[in-house]
Amino acid sequence: MENSIIRKSKVWSPEKIEEIQEKAQLGRYRIRGQATKRMDLPSFDDLVFTPAGLSRVALEGYREKCDTRVVIGEGRVKRPLVLETPIMVAGMSFGAINSNAKKALGMAATRCGISTCTGDGGMHPVEREASDKLVYQLLPSRYGLNPYDLKRADAVEIVVSQGAKPGTGGTLLGQKVSEEVATMRDLPVGVDQRSPCRHPDWMGPDDLGVKIDQVRIATNYEVPIFIKIGAGRVYDDTKLAAKAGADAIVIDGMEGGTAASPEIQLDHTGIPTVAAVVEAAEALHEIGMKDEIKLIIGGGISNGADAAKAIALGADVVYIGTAMLVALNCNKALYVEDYKALGTIPSACHHCHTGKCPVGIATQDPDLMLRLNPNEAADRVENYINSITMELQIFARSCGKSKVGDLDPTDLRSLTMNTSMITGVPIVGMGTRKPYWANYHTSTQAGELLSR
Ligand SMILES: Cc1cc2nc3c(=O)[nH]c(=O)nc-3n(C[C@H](O)[C@H](O)[C@H](O)COP(=O)(O)O)c2cc1C
Ligand code: SF4
Repeated sequence: MENSIIRKSKVWSPEKIEEIQEKAQLGRYRIRGQATKRMDLPSFDDLVFTPAGLSRVALEGYREKCDTRVVIGEGRVKRPLVLETPIMVAGMSFGAINSNAKKALGMAATRCGISTCTGDGGMHPVEREASDKLVYQLLPSRYGLNPYDLKRADAVEIVVSQGAKPGTGGTLLGQKVSEEVATMRDLPVGVDQRSPCRHPDWMGPDDLGVKIDQVRIATNYEVPIFIKIGAGRVYDDTKLAAKAGADAIVIDGMEGGTAASPEIQLDHTGIPTVAAVVEAAEALHEIGMKDEIKLIIGGGISNGADAAKAIALGADVVYIGTAMLVALNCNKALYVEDYKALGTIPSACHHCHTGKCPVGIATQDPDLMLRLNPNEAADRVENYINSITMELQIFARSCGKSKVGDLDPTDLRSLTMNTSMITGVPIVGMGTRKPYWANYHTSTQAGELLSR
């Protein structure tokens, strides 16, 4: 029990007091990496699968196949993007992370038959070489934009916004703008880079359609085009993106990761991934394009359970950023003194913006970079992707499905009223029936007695 004199306040919590005093000292808002640290968001953990029993038959894990393949752009482009498992490595800019990290992610993705994505800042040659399937981002910043690279991409992603900072542009602090990063972005070395929040060459949904047509012509109608949007007004945005002609729509929930965002925005902008997937799926279903346009969902996905639940709620593929970095070694208890020097500990680090990543991922410092061996890191990421694939198959088989993509909302129940209301998934215990006592009248006995 707290001492009655020294009592902490919920309104003026130690964290709030620290935040105010830091702003008072710095004269600006906090910027940091990783993602929101809010603990009160509805999440996929609020849902559980209802496995097969007698009403459905489970599939045998060792003998019966469970298909994981997804094709994006089938029937729409000449060279659809084939993913052997419904996972994609999300775009993380060269600048935010370094070429060793890019190489490791590319090697792992290639071995698993999935794609990586350039992120902002252009296509690094090491990344193109390592990644069999590479998605090229077109962003408002146009950093590193190069039409020759566009033609070498296996898909193009037009970024409207991302979940960690929807409605604002990006930030790359000067300490990470090395000579190579500056050259690729055509900007001066060591200077903070703010990227804009709106594309310079289209203003809204109508001319986005024109932009997509231009990209189709530039890429000879060969590769699929995605539109990526931070989750906010998901229902309408999804419909508009579909109307503009996207082959796939990426929705990035508010839990989405970043290398640098204002903390206040991480915590107070956008909607959670579990809500976003439902709105997006509903929008596509309503316009009759749920099968044709693929829905890619990102933001806080960490394991096969999150991924399987996102797919059951309507996603075709999950986008994973932060967890891929964790597989590389982010937040691992190595070089602990360096975490301390940043004022943090392994497992709580969010210091990607500083350029002093203790494990050599979110840094361009040549000495720190040596701490990430791309070959060993690729093995870890490959293991991680394979593990999620196996976990996805566990859920599909246990629900009696021979395809992961056949999971649907009827395979789920909600543990909380909140998430039940958000997703439309019935709360546990209710199933699809009325309780057996729904027609009981508590007053029956009294009524009988009175009528005598
Ligand atoms: C280090 C880092 C850098 C990122 N850079 C970009 C970027 O350049 N462009 C972009 O659209 N999204 C960027 N993102 C967001 C990811 O593409 C993705 O939307 C997000 O990471 C998904 O959430 P998750 O991290 O919880 O998996 C970045 C994320 C991280 C962690
Ligand atoms: S360990 Fe590196 S990549 Fe991970 S949060 Fe810290 S600075 Fe970012």
